[in-house]
Amino acid sequence: MRQVRLSINPGRVLFGFSRIGYTPASAICDIIDNSIMANAKNIYILIRKENEKYKDTRQGNVKDYLIIDDGDGMDEKAIEQALELGSSDAFYGESTLSKFGLGMKSATFSQGDELEVISGRDGNFLKYIVSLPEVQESDDYFANQVDLDEEDEYLISTYLNEGKGTIVKIGKVRMEGHPSIKHTIEELKEKVGVIYYYFLRNDGVKIFIENEQLPAIDVLFCEEADLNGNLDENTWTGRDVRWIEKPKEILLDSESNVKAVIEVTQLPHPPTFRLEKRGGDTEIREKYLIESANYGFYVYRNKRLISWAETFKGIIPMNQDLYSFRGRILIDDTADDTFNIDVKKSTITLSDEAWNVISDKSREWKKKSINAWGRAKTLVNERKAEDPHQTSNEIINDLEIPKFLAGTKPVDEKIVREVEAFIIEQSQKRIEKAKAFVKREMLKENYPTVQ
Ligand SMILES: Nc1ncnc2c1ncn2[C@@H]1O[C@H](COP(=O)(O)OP(=O)(O)OP(=O)(O)O)[C@@H](O)[C@H]1O
Ligand SMILES: [Mg+2]
Repeated sequence: MRQVRLSINPGRVLFGFSRIGYTPASAICDIIDNSIMANAKNIYILIRKENEKYKDTRQGNVKDYLIIDDGDGMDEKAIEQALELGSSDAFYGESTLSKFGLGMKSATFSQGDELEVISGRDGNFLKYIVSLPEVQESDDYFANQVDLDEEDEYLISTYLNEGKGTIVKIGKVRMEGHPSIKHTIEELKEKVGVIYYYFLRNDGVKIFIENEQLPAIDVLFCEEADLNGNLDENTWTGRDVRWIEKPKEILLDSESNVKAVIEVTQLPHPPTFRLEKRGGDTEIREKYLIESANYGFYVYRNKRLISWAETFKGIIPMNQDLYSFRGRILIDDTADDTFNIDVKKSTITLSDEAWNVISDKSREWKKKSINAWGRAKTLVNERKAEDPHQTSNEIINDLEIPKFLAGTKPVDEKIVREVEAFIIEQSQKRIEKAKAFVKREMLKENYPTVQ
């Protein structure tokens, strides 16, 4: 046998890693993972514009992303190791969020051409820059150690005044098709509180975006379920959060003895709230994050969310009657093989055995959830039927009769009256339709429930 030494082209490897499907928000979170592992208590996300004149809604106007943490920081040797591709796992503690030694580099180069790391302990900060174009050009993987500039000193004195911590900059962000700042901020505000729920709630970690602290969000609303108890699909009125399954340990893989904790809740039924208050359903949807993209299982690995509303290839089918179903699966890193965790730690593919276990257990939970939803729906329809005007009132409530059309000058009274008459005529037609609908519904003997 003859061993042949093979070369790696670092520029192409980096470029390849950058194409594994990060969004700016998921790239930022990969870097936040490192901050949390470094025991940071305060993590700041700053997004800076290329051109200050443009609004946040403009695409392709991000200059750089900064992730600043007041964690342990790194000395010279540690920074140099951190910048390596496939950096050493010698320091990974228990329940680590790290796995491959790649996250900071792949996340950064997925968005920009430059990775800048400033880090230090005991007030001694060092700065390194890795430039993707320079690496590509020289065919060599290297970093430049450079002096701190005024801006760096400003950031250190503002955010790291205890003399330790790390600043990671995703610099020279690639403009083409890059999402707007507004889009990324919204994504972060929606997701960070869910992704880091346990760290924000239990470990005193605070994450700020543009100086606004992001709250911890429990997507299962367990505290409310604790107050209301278990779901009984025959008596539930659709008004509150209930337990479908309280936290329960299950065996996912008998050979490797991999276990997970699963919990499931039923969220309120939004249409129930619409009957009482115009827009009541929207309020409930917003409060409980109820929408088509959000039902399913939330999978947490070592207490960090890795999969949002996972449906596990059909275990949770596309079905509106499952909108209130919320599940959570808690695994630790011993389950990585069973879940086939990818480099971004956001895609999982279950082993056959684990899929079967989750599928079997889910059958009862889904049935309960669908039946409960069906009952809540029936109650809504019954109340509508008791008051046939309810539906028409709803339609009228929803109609806003404009005094004059948007974008035009106020017009004379005659035109306003004509517009009003037209709208009223149209709404009366809809009312007739709605009445006919209610009548038809009343004629039906029973409302179906799922078996
Ligand atoms: N903010 C930070 N504070 C302290 N150390 C850090 C920080 N960011 C990175 N490091 C160090 O750099 C190493 C490499 O980080 P990187 O994200 O590239 O890979 P990883 O976290 O080891 O693994 P993964 O690929 O799963 O993210 C980390 O293991 C950690 O030791
Ligand atoms: Mg990492």
